[in-house]
Amino acid sequence: MMRTVFVNGEYLPEDEAKISIFDRGFLMADAVYEVTSVLDGKLIDFDGHAVRLERSLRELDMAAPCSKDELLEIHRKLVEENGIVEGLVYLQVTRGSDGDRDFAFPDADTKPGIVLFTQNKPNLADSPASKKGAKIISIDDIRWGRRDIKTVQLLYPSMGKMMAKKAGCDDAWMVEDGYVTEGTSNNAYFIKNGTIVTRPLSTDILHGITRKAVLRLAEEAQMQIEERLFTIDEAKEADEAFTTSASAFVMPVVEIDGVQLGDGTPGPIAKRLREIYLDESRKTAI
Ligand code: PDD
Repeated sequence: MMRTVFVNGEYLPEDEAKISIFDRGFLMADAVYEVTSVLDGKLIDFDGHAVRLERSLRELDMAAPCSKDELLEIHRKLVEENGIVEGLVYLQVTRGSDGDRDFAFPDADTKPGIVLFTQNKPNLADSPASKKGAKIISIDDIRWGRRDIKTVQLLYPSMGKMMAKKAGCDDAWMVEDGYVTEGTSNNAYFIKNGTIVTRPLSTDILHGITRKAVLRLAEEAQMQIEERLFTIDEAKEADEAFTTSASAFVMPVVEIDGVQLGDGTPGPIAKRLREIYLDESRKTAI
């Protein structure tokens, strides 16, 4: 089906949408993005994504292309026009273009670029992958030092995903200075003796919107949480592990670097957290 997409102020059929070859998102990866999930035709945690977008823009001295209310309206219109019941909305804001290539930023009054499109994912909540659990490999984290800003510099995470695929696995966790940072496109956790362990927030990882919600819900459910650095060896000895992201919610992990966790099926705490997260998200979706 031909999607309607949003590009620089216009709703267009996807094959008519165009951006300049001089756009800095294209030339310099000078752009930030958000991915918001859709369940029952409604947006999950839109506010969290909008606030993180504002922060990413601020950290890079990039202008906002429109207000939060306008963003919400565009998200909703695309979800409706494209008949999305379960899926994702991708949003990218770029520094735009002044019609040439230059390392220096263009004048501050250069109009930022904005692109949004939907992705239809009918089985997002009831995904077969979440029932099987993910197999993970560990790889070195060689990304830049501001992973808290959600930029479109995704080449290394894409390569990590391919390394995982080549190894017959689903995803990769990245390791820096001996400690796990995060997954290629998700935050990473393990569970030992009932305690959920995850890396604390810093510039080393993306401040996941799903992470925030899941940790709040885990706390409300009286689960123990430790935010601290952890090694891949600790994770391999865990009872369970999982990742969180807007595109896969809570995804159980069943194998790390060839070591099976528990009985090799999704663990009870990860499964419970997924259920609680989905229930709560559906209730608060807008
Ligand atoms: N990725 N860490 C990284 C490196 C990510 O790319 C993501 C999200 C997360 C989880 O953040 P959140 O819970 O806000 O989705 C953590 C999105 C889904 C993507 O790139 O498609």
